[in-house]
Amino acid sequence: MARSYWLLYHKAMKWYLLISYFLCSIICNAQVTYYEHIAPIIKKNCQSCHQDGDIGPIPLNTYDDVASYASMIKFVIDIKLMPPFKADHHKVKYANERFISDKEKKLLEKWIDEGLPAGSRTEFGSTLQDNSLSFYDYTVCMSEPFEHYGIYYDQYQVFPLELDIPTDKYITDVVFEPGNKEIVRSANISIAPIGSSSKMDTWDPRYGFYAYGSIGFTASFPNWMSWMPHTSSNELSESEHLYLPSNSELLLHIHYGPSGEVQTDSSCVHLSFADHPSPILQNVPLAHTGLLADTFLLEKELKKRISSSLELPIDVNLRSITPLAHLLCRSWEVFAVLPDQSSISILSINDWDFHWREKYIFKESLHLPKGTKIYTTATYDNTSTNPYNPSDPPHTMKAGPHMYDENFVCYFEIGAIQSDAMISKPLTVTEDVLRDLTFTIAKEGHYNIESYDLSSNNVKTIANKTFSIGKHTVQSSDLPSTKGVHVICIQDGTKLMDSWWIVVL
Ligand code: HEC
Repeated sequence: MARSYWLLYHKAMKWYLLISYFLCSIICNAQVTYYEHIAPIIKKNCQSCHQDGDIGPIPLNTYDDVASYASMIKFVIDIKLMPPFKADHHKVKYANERFISDKEKKLLEKWIDEGLPAGSRTEFGSTLQDNSLSFYDYTVCMSEPFEHYGIYYDQYQVFPLELDIPTDKYITDVVFEPGNKEIVRSANISIAPIGSSSKMDTWDPRYGFYAYGSIGFTASFPNWMSWMPHTSSNELSESEHLYLPSNSELLLHIHYGPSGEVQTDSSCVHLSFADHPSPILQNVPLAHTGLLADTFLLEKELKKRISSSLELPIDVNLRSITPLAHLLCRSWEVFAVLPDQSSISILSINDWDFHWREKYIFKESLHLPKGTKIYTTATYDNTSTNPYNPSDPPHTMKAGPHMYDENFVCYFEIGAIQSDAMISKPLTVTEDVLRDLTFTIAKEGHYNIESYDLSSNNVKTIANKTFSIGKHTVQSSDLPSTKGVHVICIQDGTKLMDSWWIVVL
């Protein structure tokens, strides 16, 4: 009897110890140390900007760096100032999202409470991966250094970079290389025919020209590519490339952060070319101030909501979304209602900050079937209680590219249709000048080319005939020229082979 009691006791003890061990490993877990717990969090979320010579004002490389700013770090994380990422990542998963989880916050808190123990050093490195820039096919740099005033002001300048590329190219990778990482906050590249910006360029005596929220005129491919300090490269998938028409200029729009001293920057752009034509990504402003039927006006001392909606005439894959507004904007909400009436969130920002504009790249491209309705809404606060209002007292604001203007623009990066598409890409997203559209037919057959107007749901047949193998052209006079978003589709019967988006503003 005594022996079976003992056995029972022994078994119970064993379970008690095992359970306590597991519980304790979760609850009263061992000491939180810098090298084991904190360093990986800082490395993942902060170091891309907080390195020596980078835009973050303090380096967060070593134990001493992080320990000496510990309470400030906790504070900026608590108030959600850092790491900067404005979209709600609970609703949609983004490939480029940055956030500190609740568990990580608790670790940081515990580390501070316990007196910032260092722990034993691991191979926690301070340097980030170095992208070798030697593999690119073409490099273009600013032709002269730009001088930052150094009076604690943000500066916005566009640099037209002429490209010596005589044939159309399909781009597999675009890498922006900031010349001076301490001041380059973000960069945006648009594409236009050579010489398009010369008028803008003449009125600014400095190198390039000043432009605040956009480049100041409508490019053929606005927002072709964008860069923030954490994006090392813009490598595209095997099946989707960017398109670069021949004889283009590249408009590099750089946002320089504030600096207390005069500094210079000479940034570069590197391109990799695909060796054959391939389906392309197009960044289309499906919501745009210029497409709203009523005039865009933000009356002084008023809060206002601006919305736009449209219905997709074809299936699309969405790769990313880039909302653009200036200082009065407070929030963005973009969602889609699918044909089965279910809805999905695409983007939700409730504390818009002009300084942290971003291209939000979805973890997995969103497939939106034909008939999906997309709703885009932004809110604006033009009252004197808005601390970001550039005017005091507030002025009524119109649409425009300057700091005392506002904007409502949202780019949707639309991916190629993953069918057995055999039509290679031509021109173009255009503005005021429509150009001929050329395309290549890989398999002889009967095809119909149609244009859909997203504002009026008008469908117009451009061609319905047999096409031989080779290059063909749709004359610009046959393309839609009314204001709005149009999609040109090449179909084999009812099967969509390929599409181009044209925006007429
Ligand atoms: C995308 C770049 C970027 C990332 C990522 C980033 N920061 Fe920052 N951080 C900045 C910039 C720029 C500032 C200057 C203030 C501003 O402009 O908002 C700043 C300011 C700070 C400050 C205030 C310093 C001062 O002197 O005012 C702290 C503290 C800070 N960051 C900590 C962090 C921590 C901790 C993380 C990671 C959890 C992080 N940051 C991630 C760019 C970044």
